[in-house]
Amino acid sequence: MTTDKRANFGSKLGVILASAGSAVGLGNIWRFPYETGENGGAAFIIIYLGCVLLMGVPIMVAEFLIGRRSRANTAGAYQRLAPGTPWKWVGRMGVLAGFLILSYYTVVAGWTLEFIYEAATNSFADKNAEGFIAAFDSFVANPWRPLIWLVAFMLMTHFIIVKGVEKGIEKSAKIMMPALFILLIILAICSISLPGSSAGINFLFKPDFSQINSNTFLSAMGQAFFSLSLGMGCLCTYASYFKNDTPLSKVALNVATIDTLVAILAGIIIFPAAFSVGIKPDAGPSLLFITLPNVFQQAFGSIPLLAITLSIMFYVLLAVAALTSTISLHEVVTAYLHEEFSMTRKKAACIVTTSCIILGVFCSLSLGVGKEYTLFGMTLFDLFDYVTAKLMMPIGGFLIAIFTGWYLDRKIVWEEITNQGKLKPIIFKTLVFLLKYFSPIAILLIFIHELGLL
Ligand code: PHE
Repeated sequence: MTTDKRANFGSKLGVILASAGSAVGLGNIWRFPYETGENGGAAFIIIYLGCVLLMGVPIMVAEFLIGRRSRANTAGAYQRLAPGTPWKWVGRMGVLAGFLILSYYTVVAGWTLEFIYEAATNSFADKNAEGFIAAFDSFVANPWRPLIWLVAFMLMTHFIIVKGVEKGIEKSAKIMMPALFILLIILAICSISLPGSSAGINFLFKPDFSQINSNTFLSAMGQAFFSLSLGMGCLCTYASYFKNDTPLSKVALNVATIDTLVAILAGIIIFPAAFSVGIKPDAGPSLLFITLPNVFQQAFGSIPLLAITLSIMFYVLLAVAALTSTISLHEVVTAYLHEEFSMTRKKAACIVTTSCIILGVFCSLSLGVGKEYTLFGMTLFDLFDYVTAKLMMPIGGFLIAIFTGWYLDRKIVWEEITNQGKLKPIIFKTLVFLLKYFSPIAILLIFIHELGLL
């Protein structure tokens, strides 16, 4: 393993932004609204917030701790902290999860490029809600177009990964994240001011607990893990580049807050607009892509130049948010191959890129020409999403909680959380309690509940 010359993030802000860059992405702006829509709205969001605070934050601290202490890729991290034990499989499962997520996530990331193109060629003009739905359906069913964007997106990720940690990841996150935030606020205001938008606000903020079923909990937990990039070693890999004085729990809290704010903002954009133009909130993965053009069209349609400029800006920023996430996914697998099989970073990155493109092509086709081929009643795309977000990531989170709460020497946990006693240990006890008892039990209960045994 090559650990002596490992890179570091340049600044504290860089650390937060790069981790937030991994967390904030399509998971917040694309996946959160459609999961909320499919699971009945506000009641789902309440459970989601509970998962973020009580499982997400402590498990994020645990991942940070494992990564910084070991200064290795996720699989190597467990080998260092628990040599000769099966714990290394937690890291390996994370690498596999990262690989699978990258393969289908890049498909959707590719869609954002298509929408930049459509925005730039003014093809949103004169369409109504049905028009946007029809256009999206025909785009996804096209056997070539989504594939070209998929390859383009994967290559962009590849080149940033090859350039290395600090220059690539940190720089792009620093400029684009704040810009995305500002644009989201502008769009949220526009969406709320559309006629008939109040039904969307009610859907988002007035809980109807009769909507909750066994699936709601698994979906909310899966969404929390997915959105925070947890349970698969991504933040662990990033933390291996953290400096020794980085305050882990503070960074975790900041990242979770930013991530949640972006998701809620995305909800405030999507639902008022969807209700306003009559799109059903349970439209599934297409929800963002069929709803948002309506906002640009309705709010700015009378000033075409403004509509074009704002929509291009939005899709560019969405693409960048997705890019900071694909980079982090790619980095997990690349760092693993590079350090564990002592191959050059470049070669490792090439292997990851090529194999993810191949799998991604199948995922993409499974939404169009290959729709009728299903496994367990799901398309390949849905299957990858289900297996990673609803199974592998929560299981990974469960094991990480057990590892830090029960296995790891308490002194190590204390040293990392308090930076060798330099930080006040107020939250130390709470974190250990959540990791030791609350998170593992809650995750188990949710799985048992899903299986119908509770
Ligand atoms: N958290 C990212 C998002 O919300 C997705 C992601 C998952 C990234 C897992 C890295 C690891 O878009």
